[in-house]
Amino acid sequence: MNVALLVAQTLIVVWPSYVANATPVLSRRIFKKPHYVDFGKYLWDGRRILGDGKTFEGLLVGFTAGTLVGYFIVFMVKLMVGSLFKYPSLMDSAVLSISALAGDMVGAFIKRRIGLKRGDPAPLLDQLDFLVTSILVLRAIDPSLVTLSILITAIVITPPIHLATNAIAYVLGLKGEPW
Ligand code: CTP
Ligand code: MG
Repeated sequence: MNVALLVAQTLIVVWPSYVANATPVLSRRIFKKPHYVDFGKYLWDGRRILGDGKTFEGLLVGFTAGTLVGYFIVFMVKLMVGSLFKYPSLMDSAVLSISALAGDMVGAFIKRRIGLKRGDPAPLLDQLDFLVTSILVLRAIDPSLVTLSILITAIVITPPIHLATNAIAYVLGLKGEPW
């Protein structure tokens, strides 16, 4: 497979993860009162389990958007391009979305344990926690959809894409930090 095709195939496979990771920030606009996933609790180190950046509203928005919007775009590409690629199913989109959100919370847990505050940058962890988690879970379910070359390509292309989209969200006033 040539490089452009490999990148396009990779983007199709990880697209629902991207949507699930990018949309929770919108929940701040939709819901008035945040409900924290860690219920505001602290661990033995005196730091929050996850912090204010992980809310149930964010999970709901991320899962719904990742699954439905994620799959809708995949479906449209499938209609237009057809059998040139392998496509994630609606179920795969749901799996990618849940595991992306879970991976993002693992990342937040690690950030709190090493003393980083909510929103502090953690290079590579911020860009890859959700991606690696979701793509490895999908690979466990369907190895033919997530080949080794797709896995590697996803890890290489995601950090710059993540940084660019977060910068855009910051400029639009959706996010508090540009990363
Ligand atoms: N968000 C949410 N629920 C989630 C994930 C994200 O409500 N499960 C919202 C929060 O408002 C969060 C924003 O999306 O601040 C951006 O997400 P992210 O960059 O992952 O969080 P950070 O604020 O950077 O927090 P952390 O340091 O814990 O990663
Ligand atoms: Mg962040």
